[in-house]
Amino acid sequence: MENISLMGLHCHIGSQIFEIQPYIEAVNVMMKFASIIKKEFEADIPEIDFGGGFGIYYSDGDSPLPKKVIAESITDCVKKNADIYNLKRPCILVEPGRSIIGNAGTTLYNVGAIKNIPGIRKYVIVDGGMTDNIRPALYRAKYEAAVANRMNSSDCEVVTIAGKCCESGDILVKDINMPKVNTGDIISIFSTGAYGLSMSSNYNGIPKPCVVLVNDGGSYVISKRETYDEIIENDIIPDELKRI
Ligand SMILES: Cc1ncc(COP(=O)(O)O)c(C=O)c1O
Repeated sequence: MENISLMGLHCHIGSQIFEIQPYIEAVNVMMKFASIIKKEFEADIPEIDFGGGFGIYYSDGDSPLPKKVIAESITDCVKKNADIYNLKRPCILVEPGRSIIGNAGTTLYNVGAIKNIPGIRKYVIVDGGMTDNIRPALYRAKYEAAVANRMNSSDCEVVTIAGKCCESGDILVKDINMPKVNTGDIISIFSTGAYGLSMSSNYNGIPKPCVVLVNDGGSYVISKRETYDEIIENDIIPDELKRI
């Protein structure tokens, strides 16, 4: 291909993948495509990026594959295809997202109001919600939670943890069995290290929470709590309107 220096191919086949077969199929498709490019344009593909999608544990039923299994399966399949199509072995890239950081994050919420609707459900309302974690509302993503200040309490009940936005969909965890919660307790929701802050919003004028890194007994603020002033700092009132 004159004037084109082809560096590589890329794919990303999805997220929360717990099986190896989809990656094998992706490798087969990409390597076949590389062989077509080789045949038609006599161009080798130096790199192939197979994207991310490596599933992590959020809640019961999630069973992540060991990283070694993913790496070896992709590598073996690339080698096999390279032999079949007589291609140079490309450099393999991956783009792990949540599997790097997801399990490292825990979100802490203060419990505010508690609303029991007999025969329906008991809502425990926290001082955050879809603004710091949109995934339950967006994808019905499931999370596990605990009462951080009473981890050993065994007196449990089923509650629904709701956020504080004016949306019926602002539910963080639906119908979870956990120790009885009171106003003022701290609820922790686990595995919120990925797609929390990066997908967060200021809906309802809610500032973003701070992020604290905890390591070897030390704690460090790595992202400051947002202020109300910061939320409106880019707003501009046109001079024209100020005179009204
Ligand atoms: C192109 C691309 N690569 C990598 C990722 C990371 O995905 P995951 O967090 O599921 O590993 C995404 C996420 O959507 C993506 O769109």
